[in-house]
Amino acid sequence: MSTTLLLNGKSTTLDADPNMPLLWAIREVAGLHGTKFGCGMAQCGACTVHLEGQPIRSCVTPLSAVEGRHVTTIEGLQGKPAKAVQAAWVKLQVPQCGYCQSGQIMSAAALLAQNPKPTDADIDAAMSGNICRCATYTRIRAAIHDAAGAMRNQVASDESEAPILADRAGAQTPTLVNRSAVHGTTASAEALTLADRTAVHGTTASAETLTLADRTAVHGTRVSAEALTLVDRG
Ligand code: FES
Ligand code: FES
Repeated sequence: MSTTLLLNGKSTTLDADPNMPLLWAIREVAGLHGTKFGCGMAQCGACTVHLEGQPIRSCVTPLSAVEGRHVTTIEGLQGKPAKAVQAAWVKLQVPQCGYCQSGQIMSAAALLAQNPKPTDADIDAAMSGNICRCATYTRIRAAIHDAAGAMRNQVASDESEAPILADRAGAQTPTLVNRSAVHGTTASAEALTLADRTAVHGTTASAETLTLADRTAVHGTRVSAEALTLVDRG
């Protein structure tokens, strides 16, 4: 039997027992090995993935529960909170052995997506289900604060650029208006030019008509002269 879900943004059909834990379906059927097995009983957080943006323990979630739903693993994690978390993890060198870290990052990214300015208590509450046998907790908390700060700086930077962009947009509008005015003038000038050309062509046509008439007259004369010559020869 198969189950179709949106795995990391792509419609994916997994041919497996619907009762199979999502963790095994992700790892063994879909072949995505970034999500880890730790306890198999929702105690360690190593298997954390997002279901519709919420962190869940995939080791205790049956595949059938995600039919038609969005599941995101560490391989498909995207967005500002995720990028901020990943950058902070690198900056503060959070991992030690690394085994728990994909689950830690999934929980941290989900926290910042919902709470961009978490307190220590908020972080402890959100991360309490993710165990680290290397005890990197101090660096995890510091990295989440760092990521939150980076997100706020990004927002402040975006806001400070907004008036500049608005100015640019405003500056471009008169430019476009001016261009329209210029084009209007140009169009009028072109219209006049075309009118002139038409007049010129009209004149040319008339001139050509006259020229042809003249030639006809000339040819007529020549014919007449030839006719006369022939008459004379005859
Ligand atoms: S493996 Fe799922 S919580 Fe530990
Ligand atoms: S870094 Fe080793 S288990 Fe967390």
